[in-house]
Amino acid sequence: MKKALKFPKKFFWGTSTASHQVEGGNYNNWSEWEKLKSVDFAHSSHRKFGYLSNWKNIKKEAENPKNYISGKAVDHFNRYPEDFDIMKSLGLNAYRFSIEWSRIEPEKGRFNKEALAHYVLFINELKVRGIEPFVTLWHWSHPVWLEKEGGILARNFSKYFVRYARYVVEALQNDVNYWLTINEPEIFTYEAYMAGSWPPGKRNVLSTLRARLALMMGHNKVYNAIKRINSGLKVSFAKHEAAFEVGDNSILTKISVSFGKYIASKWFFIITKGHLDFIGVNHYARTKMKAFSIANDNEVVGDLGWELYPKSIYMSLMELKRFKKPIIITENGVADAEDKYRSWFIKETLRWLHKAIEEGVDVKGYLHWSLLDNFEWDKGFWPKFGLVKVNRKNQKRTIRKSAYLYGKVAKANKLEVDE
Ligand code: BGC
Repeated sequence: MKKALKFPKKFFWGTSTASHQVEGGNYNNWSEWEKLKSVDFAHSSHRKFGYLSNWKNIKKEAENPKNYISGKAVDHFNRYPEDFDIMKSLGLNAYRFSIEWSRIEPEKGRFNKEALAHYVLFINELKVRGIEPFVTLWHWSHPVWLEKEGGILARNFSKYFVRYARYVVEALQNDVNYWLTINEPEIFTYEAYMAGSWPPGKRNVLSTLRARLALMMGHNKVYNAIKRINSGLKVSFAKHEAAFEVGDNSILTKISVSFGKYIASKWFFIITKGHLDFIGVNHYARTKMKAFSIANDNEVVGDLGWELYPKSIYMSLMELKRFKKPIIITENGVADAEDKYRSWFIKETLRWLHKAIEEGVDVKGYLHWSLLDNFEWDKGFWPKFGLVKVNRKNQKRTIRKSAYLYGKVAKANKLEVDE
């Protein structure tokens, strides 16, 4: 027997991208980093990913330094009307993307009107198709002049961030209701200041904590600035939420899970208290702990070796219920070049998400990562997260089967499941 799980009226069904991963032609902190690191990344790829069971399929791309140069990316900067047509044909009504700070303010204090005009047009093209824009102001890329002054740790970081945000929000406030100040501060600060794999490539606990604080202070200040411009706008940041789970009953495990939840989640909500109108949640996985080690069961994994465990979205949402705030899933997806698991993953994830809604969590939308295959930061182009496959030789778009499945759910605003 089939049963239909209905979603709330006006539910946002969409996709999510970030400027540097799709636009092409950017010059920012990442493009400098790519020049510096592409050969290293190619040489060390076997050490990092050789253990994956699909290594033979990805080896060629992963061992090629060109894989790590974003270059023209998937030319979304020019091809966005075609990409929005695809979204519309699938029945999607929401799109999260980021504004590229380095285009808007290529030199310190010099704001580029043409770049702003590009995003005005871009948003207009969304709106004529009935697609609601969700705008991220900082998704890990920023101008080179800022990086030279210390990036997130620059003395005047929050001043610069507020100035750039005000320029953008003042111009777009009538067309954009939903704003995300920053993307995943925890992941960025870990990779950039602790693991050394992202720019500026530091390995220092103190810098990691300082960068985390700087970003969160930046969020709070930009939140206030946006509210001063227009108090009706809805502002949040995109929080990476993994679902922590205890893998056994030991005291050590309980301690490590409580610590993990505090450092990776609670702390961010304490510091942003009074500065969130809704909660943007990027959710990919669970973190099952046994003492201080991750012990996921990994029965099904995507191309990156990440466990696919759809129930974890429910676990995260139930944790966030206590805030009594609207929630938008701002990212969720899987690297799956063959599109082997994506349909199943989307269906099962939505089934669990629906259960959370039934149990009182106010989820307003689900934005799948990602619309297009894109540039996966230090992994380059080989992981394929797109609902739409992109051939980077000719930029041809091919809609994957899973995208049709997702579109069917979106159009009907309900999910058919077996009882
Ligand atoms: C990031 C995206 C990234 C995705 C998949 C998220 O943490 O926000 O930029 O592409 O994960 O790795």
